[in-house]
Amino acid sequence: MLTAARNEMLTRVGPGTPMGELLRRYWQPIAGASELDANPIKTVRLLGEDLVLYRDLRGRYGLVDRHCPHRRADMSYGWVEEEGIRCSYHGWLVNETGRCLEQPYEDTANPKPSKAGCDTKAYPVKECAGLLFAYLGPLPAPELPVWEPFTWTNGFREIVLADIPCNWFQCQENSIDPVHFEWMHDNWGSRLQGGTANTAPKHLKVKFEEFEHGFVYKRVREGQSEQDRYWTVGRVALWPNGFYLGSHFEWRVPVDDENTLSVAWFFMRVPKGREPYTQERVPTWVSPIKDESGRWISSHVINQDIVAWVGQGRIADRTKEHLRSSDIGITMMRNRFFQEMEAVAAGKEPAGVVRSANAAACIALPNMARELNTEGIPLADYDKDPILRQRLKEFRHHYGQPAQVRRAFVEAMGI
Ligand code: FES
Ligand SMILES: [Fe+2]
Repeated sequence: MLTAARNEMLTRVGPGTPMGELLRRYWQPIAGASELDANPIKTVRLLGEDLVLYRDLRGRYGLVDRHCPHRRADMSYGWVEEEGIRCSYHGWLVNETGRCLEQPYEDTANPKPSKAGCDTKAYPVKECAGLLFAYLGPLPAPELPVWEPFTWTNGFREIVLADIPCNWFQCQENSIDPVHFEWMHDNWGSRLQGGTANTAPKHLKVKFEEFEHGFVYKRVREGQSEQDRYWTVGRVALWPNGFYLGSHFEWRVPVDDENTLSVAWFFMRVPKGREPYTQERVPTWVSPIKDESGRWISSHVINQDIVAWVGQGRIADRTKEHLRSSDIGITMMRNRFFQEMEAVAAGKEPAGVVRSANAAACIALPNMARELNTEGIPLADYDKDPILRQRLKEFRHHYGQPAQVRRAFVEAMGI
């Protein structure tokens, strides 16, 4: 249980709030690069700031104030040029550093045009593994951590976005919550398909450990032992707002205090013998979370998680909860956030910020599925593993995979 004031600290993300300042120290995934292929401009709301993401005709990314520095028109209705983005109201042009390059009327009619003081807000953007990351904190920006899976080859990758109408922190608490798998995915999953009993193997013990880039949770369920990789390796609640499960990442990116962008990046190694496989473009798609009747979609794994997140309210009221031993990881994570918010307030660099380019170039994480993803297995062996078998049959993480993404996946896998 938390006081209302501590809950505010964990959940408010706007500029100047303790959590807002902390999260601004890390690169945040905000889009798939392929999203900008059809239209090079995308509106972005991130940490309570309204912005416009664009790719100019030279291929440079910019993330600038959504409102034009002139008289605040919406830059997302402008267009991109060789350098920068131009406002459609009076034609002012700004580039990715926020510099105002042109003010057409002044440049024509004013004998001494000056653009002093007319720069706009702009943040750095980097592309990696098909994702676009933004950094909203003080400069110099740290290195963008290149997680090892981003360097893997011979795999089919896809990016799935979902707009979640609740605060990011309750989504991230789900990243360090092993017991929910038994209930939310196994028992409820089976009920949704007509099951009548709670038959999922019970959790017998759970353990939480901290490491340089977050937390690892481990578990033993009925039918497993301490020799199982779920106990020897575990899964990663990636600091500060990610989740890593061996073949995919999920990030809970704060849009503002009451909205979150779920960004998930998936990797599926092609079967042995299908190499070399090169993916030209990493597809990005948006997963709907509500059905026509207005109920949350519950057929897919992450959709089920979303039902839990939004069910806790726009901002979960942590003054009314009852934490037990299954929630030790949640408490560890909250405490770490409080400590790091204090560190930032004291002018210190918070945990997990990577400053060495060498270190950032490839960061390994605890991974239960490393060989599967780096070496691959024959197609016939996918059949022996219930999760892999299912994965070949259908995309079970998010509802609504577009047919053309499925087709490209089928072709890559050779199925
Ligand atoms: S408001 Fe954008 S150019 Fe005038
Ligand atoms: Fe889950």
